[in-house]
Amino acid sequence: MARTITVIPGDGIGPEVMSATLEVLEAAGADLEYDMQLGGVTALEQVHHPLPQETIDSAERTRVLLKGPLTTPSGSGFRSINVELRKIFDLYANVRPVRTIVPGGRYEDIDLVLIRENTEGLYVGVEHYIGMQGDAKAAAESVMIITRFGAERISRYAFEYARKHGRKKVTLAHKANILKYTQGLFLDVAREVAKDYPEIEWEDRIIDATAMQLVLDPYRFDVLVMENMFGDILSDLMAGLVGGLGFAPAGNIGEDAAMFEAVHGSAPDIAGKGVANPTSLLTSACLMLDHLDQNECATRIRSAIDTVVQKGEARTADMGGNATTKEFTAALVKALA
Ligand code: NAI
Ligand code: MG
Repeated sequence: MARTITVIPGDGIGPEVMSATLEVLEAAGADLEYDMQLGGVTALEQVHHPLPQETIDSAERTRVLLKGPLTTPSGSGFRSINVELRKIFDLYANVRPVRTIVPGGRYEDIDLVLIRENTEGLYVGVEHYIGMQGDAKAAAESVMIITRFGAERISRYAFEYARKHGRKKVTLAHKANILKYTQGLFLDVAREVAKDYPEIEWEDRIIDATAMQLVLDPYRFDVLVMENMFGDILSDLMAGLVGGLGFAPAGNIGEDAAMFEAVHGSAPDIAGKGVANPTSLLTSACLMLDHLDQNECATRIRSAIDTVVQKGEARTADMGGNATTKEFTAALVKALA
């Protein structure tokens, strides 16, 4: 029986890249059914709520979401739906693989995975101003929270991921030399977890040195794991190693739910023009297929992307070509035939 998933096309270029993605999934024979739902500004306009209860109910049923980019209007007061969904379903692991797709970039054959803790650290939002001598904003304070529970489950997730995907090494990037308590706890816990995976090489590195090494010699890494903010920053750095966010997939994984999304935003500057590159969402859909044990289908799609992009006949503008979204999608469908 086909697996039903919740699909949120999203805002801006969202509907364009989502329809391209669903067309390719169909051509690849993915065993899926879609429960189409609203989210973001599109939902706000149509049903007066950016994250309608119906969408949440659907995700409660299906436990797997495929989501296009959602516009977060700055200053309008509605909180990021992405953050909201991660919270509701406790999607604690942010999985960001990067792989060279377009040859001739900065590096060939990059194949790295960053596992970012998604629920703790500085991003918990525990912050406030401190007033002094009549200045209400004389100082500001943000609290970094690391729990043994959170550090342990993300570390374990990274090692389990490495084991499942035949990866050889896990690197913990941290700042325990300076933040001795929070980062120190993370390091202590990860070191203990590593003992349960003797077949996987493990190392710990200081975060700033890791950033430099990623740029100088990315091949020395394999799977990287880190807390929330470090992961936020380094996952974009790693996307830069393979040509930017247009190619980077992301999965947000919890114990009993998962959400797969494009990492780029709703690109209002090109929305509706039919020129968006659907690769980020499509490769996120491949992560979803892996998650649903439809790996073979994911592998076929990834190699179709490689074939089409390497041939260079149908590249979208961000890849240096002039193909429309539809032309690129048609080339993928043809490569899958
Ligand atoms: P953006 O990622 O939407 O766009 C940045 C630049 O990259 C633009 O020039 C855009 O045309 C280009 N671009 C992005 N995706 C592309 C694609 N698939 N193909 C070709 N070109 C692409 O970032 P921006 O402009 O900062 O944000 C726009 C909106 O998206 C904001 O409301 C922001 O909050 C939201 N956003 C949502 C995210 C999500 O839902 N996960 C992530 C990032 C931003
Ligand atoms: Mg980010």
